[in-house]
Amino acid sequence: MTAEIIDGKKIANEILADIKEQTASLQNAPKLAIVLVGNDDASLIYVRNKQKAAAQAGILTELHHLEDTTSQKTILELIDKCNQDDLVNGIIVQLPLPKHLNTNEIINRISPQKDVDGFHPYNTGLLQNNEEPYFIAATPLGIMTMLKTVTPSLSGKNVVLIGASLIVGRPLATLLLNQECTVTVTHIHTQNIKELTANADILVAACGVANMVKKDWIKDKAVLIDVGINRENGKLCGDIDFEDVKEKALAITPVPGGVGPMTVAMLLQNTYRAYLLQHGML
Ligand code: GUN
Repeated sequence: MTAEIIDGKKIANEILADIKEQTASLQNAPKLAIVLVGNDDASLIYVRNKQKAAAQAGILTELHHLEDTTSQKTILELIDKCNQDDLVNGIIVQLPLPKHLNTNEIINRISPQKDVDGFHPYNTGLLQNNEEPYFIAATPLGIMTMLKTVTPSLSGKNVVLIGASLIVGRPLATLLLNQECTVTVTHIHTQNIKELTANADILVAACGVANMVKKDWIKDKAVLIDVGINRENGKLCGDIDFEDVKEKALAITPVPGGVGPMTVAMLLQNTYRAYLLQHGML
């Protein structure tokens, strides 16, 4: 038996079409402000993908592409301006930022009600408390949506996460815990990691190491979510060795076409939600 492929691209396109239908009946289109500092190769691609998908969903984008030498003060002033602009519904700052900038101070300046990336401590704090935040981070949200297509009930599942980042691992661990999963978060200092991953009903790899997870890492019929986007010999690949695991897993997300497009779709869903929130329609 070969694993079911969880088609993130297809689910994402359905979500974008749905948003497009909903935004068509609004007075004016929702708008997302994107702050991009410098010219990091991956960030340029991600931002372009976000703009393309936004157009598909009937959402406007306003790109603020700044020099990599831009000062902290200039960025904070730009965020203030976007916070005050009634026509801007959502604000994101593409990460990572150049080293001279204080990322936390910049993220914390975004109004929690426009924080469509869900990175502001107000939103992450409510999520931690199992209360409803304005917004939840897009990658974890996309993963939860994909998981539910193959595992409708998550209660009691053993889930192992590889990676404890602020953008993926930590918020995802909280979401899964809130759904009654038993969650193990592993990271670069974890010892005997294979002993942990081999017990996982659901394994999420977000470590950025090309093809690290092999079939001897996984449990029979595990559900595998691959967050990695790596380039090896000119070809895109994930953190999970797809060819090696595909006969043993129950289901797996492909790279490309899995978590990536779902992340973008969830960001736009959050932006639509921001519009509704700010217009008293939620
Ligand atoms: N860099 C990598 N992933 C993300 C994301 O989801 N949002 C932002 N703003 N930056 C990122």
